[in-house]
Amino acid sequence: MSQFDTIIIGGGPGGYVCAIRAAQLGQKVAVVEGRGALGGTCLNVGCIPSKALLHASHLLHETHTNFEKMGLMGAHPTVDWARMLGYKDEVIGQNTKGIEFLFKKNKVTWIKGWGSIPAPGQVRVGDEVHTARNIVIATGSEPAGLPGVTVDEEVVVTSTGALTLRSIPRSMVVIGAGVIGLELGSVYARLGTQVTVVEYLDGITPGMDLEIAKAFQKILTRQGLKFVLGAAVQGVERTGDQATVRWKLRKDDSEASLTADAVLVATGRRPYTAGLGLEPLRVAMLPRGQVQTDAHFATSVPGLYAIGDAIAGPMLAHKAEDEGMALAEILAGRHGHVNYDVIPGVIYTTPEVANVGRTEEQLKAEGRAYKVGKFSFMGNGRAKAVFQGEGFVKLLADAATDRILGCHLIGPAAGDLIHEVCVAMEFGASAQDLALTCHAHPTFSEAMREAALACGDGAIHA
Ligand code: NAI
Repeated sequence: MSQFDTIIIGGGPGGYVCAIRAAQLGQKVAVVEGRGALGGTCLNVGCIPSKALLHASHLLHETHTNFEKMGLMGAHPTVDWARMLGYKDEVIGQNTKGIEFLFKKNKVTWIKGWGSIPAPGQVRVGDEVHTARNIVIATGSEPAGLPGVTVDEEVVVTSTGALTLRSIPRSMVVIGAGVIGLELGSVYARLGTQVTVVEYLDGITPGMDLEIAKAFQKILTRQGLKFVLGAAVQGVERTGDQATVRWKLRKDDSEASLTADAVLVATGRRPYTAGLGLEPLRVAMLPRGQVQTDAHFATSVPGLYAIGDAIAGPMLAHKAEDEGMALAEILAGRHGHVNYDVIPGVIYTTPEVANVGRTEEQLKAEGRAYKVGKFSFMGNGRAKAVFQGEGFVKLLADAATDRILGCHLIGPAAGDLIHEVCVAMEFGASAQDLALTCHAHPTFSEAMREAALACGDGAIHA
């Protein structure tokens, strides 16, 4: 039995960041993690491995589509799937070992095993009970699944199984046109799989600015993904090495089905709090299964806190990291703060999609007077030079004050470009502030400035 200032249950982006910051601020900190590697879903079976496969499949796609245009002849590599998965695993290993190194450097103790909370101030791991002034639930989330659908992680898979398929499937049905479905659907489409995405709603990526979502769907369709929208999945049956997905179209109740080598169930995630023992402690929960917290991440039980996917808000690694850091500051008696109005979202397809702040639909619903500045990457010399002229930037600013309210873009390096708008929004900048900032030429970022110019007297290259 050991005593700590803070014990964090869960070693994902929320938990490990909280631990490192708390240790930097002078606390004695432990993280309980039973997975066998630190980094949580993100590093082990989420963000990082999927980005490795997105990178490899993107390069393969480039060799088939753009190499000869650049005079690079005869380069038509084939895929050695085992080696590609090996590369992905190596990337995972480098990252998870990196967190172990950071723990050692910051003197954070890793308690290996699954934790539960037998009483306030106590964490049980196996036969041992550790004590702490503060306990932090940072246990993340798990795939929500679908009623009536049995996941076997071989043929019918979640995002986890989709990263370890035995071979590249000839065909795949993706259930759910959200972030996971489209990122992993893109990977397999580029590796030669015939991908059909079946989505309950009438559009893809719910919540995204509609104009961007529609453009995104067109681009993905051109890349070979097929979409069945407005379709409620009724069931999935496995027969041998294949599975059949049955759905009903919501508009007319007509039924249809598709048999494929793989079925990816990507219909959302739910907080993972099973086994923590929260019920006997009477920890207040929200209706959708998240732990209820106040503005300082405190639960209804004194000394017990929660962050990340386990609480309300977008299920994003960087949101969890920010909360982890803010909580560590609060526990050290400082003022931790997360600005939920400026949390970017990125979809790592090619082209990437990124957003921050309000969508045009939200501004309309709020009755706000706003301006729209748009700029196509076709007007950006750098993007055209590298075959990435597809997509556009859309900047939304207050009609009266010019203050930036949101930004949505689809295009090259969108996931990096969005951050200049995040910083601008944190400083309460106007579109003109962005427009008057010198942007190096030739860079993709000039498209951001042009969109800001379009909020004023007009873009130059449009
Ligand atoms: P999601 O919530 O993004 O999308 C799920 C989709 O499934 C929705 O479009 C929904 O309408 C659809 N759906 C639900 N039930 C259905 C049914 N019965 N039949 C057909 N379609 C149905 O969830 P997703 O993609 O599983 O991702 C889970 C979480 O992980 C999200 O919060 C996401 O933000 C996060 N994530 C973020 C990434 C990123 O930031 N790049 C990458 C991967 C995941």
